[in-house]
Amino acid sequence: MALGPTVRRFLGPRLGRTAGRCYRAVFVDLDEVAQAVTTWLPPAARLLDIGGGDGEALNRLLTRRPDVHVTTLDTSALLAQYLEPRFEAQVTRLPCTTLAQYLDQATEEPQVVLLADVLHHVPPAARPDLLAGLARLLERVASLRIIVKDIEPGSWRAWLACWTDRYITGDRHVDPISRAELIRLFTTHLGELRWQESDLIRRDHPNYAVAFFR
Ligand SMILES: C[S@@+](CC[C@H](N)C(=O)[O-])C[C@H]1O[C@@H](n2cnc3c(N)ncnc32)[C@H](O)[C@@H]1O
Repeated sequence: MALGPTVRRFLGPRLGRTAGRCYRAVFVDLDEVAQAVTTWLPPAARLLDIGGGDGEALNRLLTRRPDVHVTTLDTSALLAQYLEPRFEAQVTRLPCTTLAQYLDQATEEPQVVLLADVLHHVPPAARPDLLAGLARLLERVASLRIIVKDIEPGSWRAWLACWTDRYITGDRHVDPISRAELIRLFTTHLGELRWQESDLIRRDHPNYAVAFFR
C-alpha cells in the first residue's frame, strides 16, 4: 500500500482526517474551491460528483449550499468516509462505480456534474471513455453544466502536488492537465460548448475551475 493510505490507516479515523486536511491544505484551499463551484449551482441543484474521494470537499460545498442534493460516485470502494453526519440525508454514495455504470442505472438526471481533482488521475488513454459518458449525459440533459476543478501545471506547487500524488498517494498514472488541454479535450469530445473560468486561479494558484455549458 502507498505511504499516504498507510499513514492514514495507522493514525486512525480522527487523526487520519486531521492529517489529511493539513496535507491537502498545502495544495488547495477547499473553501476557495467550494466558493468557485457553488457560483455555478442553480437553487436546489442535483449534483453528480464524479470521483468524490473522502468527502472533505463536499463538506465545504454543502456548508455553503445546504439546498444541494449530491450523488457521489467513485471507482474506489472507500467513498465520502469523512462526510459530516449533518449532510448524510442529502448525499447518495455510489462506491466502486464508473460514470458508464451510473448512466445505465440512474433514475434521476443531474443538473450539474463536478469533476474535482479527478481528471489528472485519469490517464490520457482512459479520458475518452469518461468523455463518452459525459457526452451521453449531455444528450439526456441539454442544460447540463459540467464543472472541472484541476491544477494548472508549471509551478512549484503544481509540481509538488503531482509528486505527492505519485509517491505519497501512490497513483503512478497521474498526468496533469492544463486549462488549454482541458478545453481542447472537452470541445473535441463533446462538440460545441461554451465555457467560463472562475477566478480560483488568481485566488488559489495553480488551482483552477472551469464550467462547460451547451
Ligand atoms: C484526488 S481525489 C479527489 C476527491 C474529491 N473530488 C475532492 O476534490 O476532494 C480523486 C478521486 O477520483 C477517483 N477517480 C479516479 N478516476 C476515476 C474515474 N474514472 N471515475 C470515478 N472516480 C475516479 C479516485 O478514486 C479518487 O477518489
